[in-house]
Amino acid sequence: MTRQNKKPLIAPSLLAANFAKLGEELAAVEAAGADWLHLDVMDGHFVPNITFGPLVVKALRPLTNMPLDVHLMIAPADPYIAAFAEAGADHISVHPESGPHLHRTLQAIRGLGKKAGVVLNPATPVDSIAHVLDLADLIMVMTVNPGFGGQAFIASQLTKIAALRRMIDETGRDIVLQIDGGITAQTAPAVLAAGATCLIAGTAVFAAPDYAVAITAIRDAAAAAVAG
Ligand code: DX5
Ligand code: ZN
Repeated sequence: MTRQNKKPLIAPSLLAANFAKLGEELAAVEAAGADWLHLDVMDGHFVPNITFGPLVVKALRPLTNMPLDVHLMIAPADPYIAAFAEAGADHISVHPESGPHLHRTLQAIRGLGKKAGVVLNPATPVDSIAHVLDLADLIMVMTVNPGFGGQAFIASQLTKIAALRRMIDETGRDIVLQIDGGITAQTAPAVLAAGATCLIAGTAVFAAPDYAVAITAIRDAAAAAVAG
């Protein structure tokens, strides 16, 4: 089976969940077929919103075997990476703009035994990560400006996704290409066709009446459109 015919990994973003019952929400998306749980960490400085820190990651860790996909929207990120690793994050992703030494940051994440990711804002060029691909286990393309759920998908990022697909293929390594922001059953087919392998969805899952129906709709819409 080629990559294009594969169904994408689906990572619901807890940002859109009911924060008064995070444990129940986690269990519900896991039962509904989620592959990973995406956790958005925001500091009110790097992005104009504040969410949660390592304590919440630590509280959720024993509740699931799903990989915890931690998206750090904080600056600086370096002083907090060990805390997220100790809290039980499996993947730790950072934006290049969150510190002056991306290469060192990715080394630090891997040094803690975690998968390292890099996240590109809509205006951040692919060249910014060209020389750290050897340290990346995941690359995430933001298809909204980071900070809030429920925003509209930015279609101009499709060419960036395709460019990153080519760059990843040239490495010969199985780097996960994640897309974050505005993912729905309507937008998923184009991002999968451009080469994504993991779709992050907040509102499209947690605002839906039935999480399993919502997750399946995104996964199957994407795979069906690509299989053609
Ligand atoms: C935005 C976050 C996203 C967000 C996506 O800064 O990184 O993970 O939860 O939410 P939706 O799917 O609603 O665009
Ligand atoms: Zn995110």
